[in-house]
Amino acid sequence: MRKPVIAGNWKMHMTCAEAREYLSVFLPLVAHTPQDRNLVIAPPFTALSTVAESARDSHLRLSSQNVHWEDKGAFTAEVSPLMLLEHKVCYSIVGHSEPRKYYSESDEQINRRARSAQTHGLIPIVCVGESDEQRERGEAERVIRRQVEQGLEGIDSAKVVIAYEPIWAIGTGKTCESKEANRICGLIRDWVGFSDLIIQYGGSVKPGNIDELMSMSDIDGVLVGGASLDPKGFARIANFEYC
Ligand code: PGA
Repeated sequence: MRKPVIAGNWKMHMTCAEAREYLSVFLPLVAHTPQDRNLVIAPPFTALSTVAESARDSHLRLSSQNVHWEDKGAFTAEVSPLMLLEHKVCYSIVGHSEPRKYYSESDEQINRRARSAQTHGLIPIVCVGESDEQRERGEAERVIRRQVEQGLEGIDSAKVVIAYEPIWAIGTGKTCESKEANRICGLIRDWVGFSDLIIQYGGSVKPGNIDELMSMSDIDGVLVGGASLDPKGFARIANFEYC
């Protein structure tokens, strides 16, 4: 039985004051959300403790937007798994297309981050996905397969989430057609060879397409960027219904 994971990635948004205000609207709207799904928010590092504190009596779980592979050391600008555990973090996003693009994160680095997260009991959310050009050249499957195989090397498939996020769908309003997203998620499941693997879809998920996406057989949740910044819209996504 695969329990869906509905995660909001706030990216570089929300001061602590804004996060508190957001949760004062969002938490009452998800107080009766069925327990058949996990609800997660990934705030910026600076708002982790604020969100942890505001959400302490709720079933909302916390994710970080990254995690380093070392416990401590001379790694300016990085955050270690031990620091995250102190803030009640349960998940860590790794390999998002933004750090892949802006900071040239490699599959090897992403794998080290994911392994370190797992070693410390954090569940890595490993993002994979092809660019527009790669899809047009017919390379999408090859690219995703490489990212999955290298990103998951040495990883326990029962304690990881994969997020299939086609880059051309992120922040563009252009959602991947749900059947195609489902097809790719099915391929990922086959490549990994673990039927209970949790696979999310991400890329322009919104209240208007969540029910259809969640009705797909191989999509076990969503990673939501822009639409997670609106507490009412994200609550609607969290309260999705299978159609
Ligand atoms: P989006 O972002 O929902 O704004 O397209 C998704 C993501 O980057 O995870």
